[in-house]
Amino acid sequence: MSSVVEILKLAKAKAKLKRGAVSSRDIEDLLCYILKIKWGDLFLMLESDISEEDCEKFEKLLLEYLQGFPLAYLLKEVEFYHLKLAVNTDVLIPRVETEVLVDKACNVIREDYKANKILFDVGTGTGCIGLSIKNKFPELKAYLSDKSSLALSVAKANAKKNNIEAVFLEGDLLEPYHGLKADYVFSNPPYIKNEDYVGLEETVRNFEPKTALISGESGLECYTNLEKKLPYYLNNNAKIFFEIGFDQGIALSKIFNNQYWSKKRCEKDFSGKDRFFFLEFDAKYFVE
Ligand SMILES: C[S@@+](CC[C@H](N)C(=O)[O-])C[C@H]1O[C@@H](n2cnc3c(N)ncnc32)[C@H](O)[C@@H]1O
Repeated sequence: MSSVVEILKLAKAKAKLKRGAVSSRDIEDLLCYILKIKWGDLFLMLESDISEEDCEKFEKLLLEYLQGFPLAYLLKEVEFYHLKLAVNTDVLIPRVETEVLVDKACNVIREDYKANKILFDVGTGTGCIGLSIKNKFPELKAYLSDKSSLALSVAKANAKKNNIEAVFLEGDLLEPYHGLKADYVFSNPPYIKNEDYVGLEETVRNFEPKTALISGESGLECYTNLEKKLPYYLNNNAKIFFEIGFDQGIALSKIFNNQYWSKKRCEKDFSGKDRFFFLEFDAKYFVE
């Protein structure tokens, strides 16, 4: 039988040997997951013994972690903008940048929020964007879609887990929204160029879904397709919020060059990089 403090010491030493710089917090989180306790409580039980069974489970998890399996998939859950979201390898792990997108969008929506306005989240993955916006503005009608039925199952489960009402649609970009018009559209679509895929971090490349990351030769295909179709799916003054690659701002401005796209602007993430592209729809310039 070993104590919490002994197990942690051993695991951290092992991790240092295998991966060099490791996060102590990750290892503590793995142990908390096995012991079903909160991180803060771990330090109240440093001298407690851990059962053989829990030791074995922890060893197994630690091995997967040291082989590069992302922590979020091992813990099966992430926190995102006040929600707890289930994750598995069918969905991209929500990123902190995307929380920034949600936060910025909330500030915009707050200005003209009315009950029954319609929100689309195109390529919803875990549902992180659509569900957190709906959670903040419960009187919106939320439609969340994905091309992947497996991802959509995760989003549905997350809606249930957080007691949030939304409609789930399966299909390519705007196709499943036939007959609907939105006031707010969100999308964090795949935006990596085919050729850049090999340069991604190994943990991303080896474990996260490729279909959530890559968008053709240019990385811009989803945005180009959305630009063509969006005007048919928007109410006047609809607001659109995209997450983009840090070097795609100018390309997005060129893609959204019709007169009916107004108030185009890039917004920055925490590290000061262009990461978001926001715009609005001015229906008076659009002729169907
Ligand atoms: C970058 S992930 C974003 C997931 C989630 N919205 C987030 O921000 O974490 C892109 C998502 O778009 C979905 N997707 C990829 N191509 C699509 C398409 N053509 N139509 C609809 N969804 C698509 C993927 O399955 C994936 O869930």
